[in-house]
Amino acid sequence: MTQDEKKRGAAEAALDYIEPGWVVGVGTGSTANYFIDALARIKGKLDGAVASSNASAERLKKLGIPVLDLNAAGSLPVYVDGADEATRHLHLVKGGGGALTREKIVAAASTKFICIADDSKLVDLLGKFPLPIEVIPMARSLVARKLVALGGDPVWRQGFTTDNGNIILDVHNLKILNPVELEGQLDHITGVVTNGLFARRPADVLLLGGAQGVEKLT
Ligand code: 5RP
Repeated sequence: MTQDEKKRGAAEAALDYIEPGWVVGVGTGSTANYFIDALARIKGKLDGAVASSNASAERLKKLGIPVLDLNAAGSLPVYVDGADEATRHLHLVKGGGGALTREKIVAAASTKFICIADDSKLVDLLGKFPLPIEVIPMARSLVARKLVALGGDPVWRQGFTTDNGNIILDVHNLKILNPVELEGQLDHITGVVTNGLFARRPADVLLLGGAQGVEKLT
């Protein structure tokens, strides 16, 4: 079974968590794209979606799913999104696609966060995948120095601008022993908009696509 088939399996399993009449929070990335495609099959039963990126909003609209502004939608019953790394505690690293800020906002506005991923994303310790951090452009060097002081090796994601007009620093070689504490520490660096740790508000359910089917972790 290919990695894409595993992603699609996890994405389709997330449909079990969607109820008629809901506005659904939708994430970003290849696994979230499979979820959007699955969502299109039941679009007649939905009131719409709130997207965590311009790319996902475009895909939703192309498939005929109404896209709502989060301010108009209010609280959401559910948010479905992928991850770059996930632990059995449902702590995540996200932001490989650079959409981490809007992803964290939509997750925070949602009652339930369903994370969908192929089984290669499950790790014992977060940090092998470089941790994405969205930074206000003028603070790039300042934030990079603070990240080095914390033991990381930040690398500027060249040629990439977020949907919010900011840059991304990908931080290599961080030993993330306490993700909840590090998430807070990173948020307190002046110039940081958002960091890619989703630990203070972890996923509620992790659906992992694998060769034997979809494993559900809660
Ligand atoms: C985007 C994300 C994605 O969820 C993450 O990068 C996983 O992507 P994929 O489903 O393509 O493996 O956080 O900012």
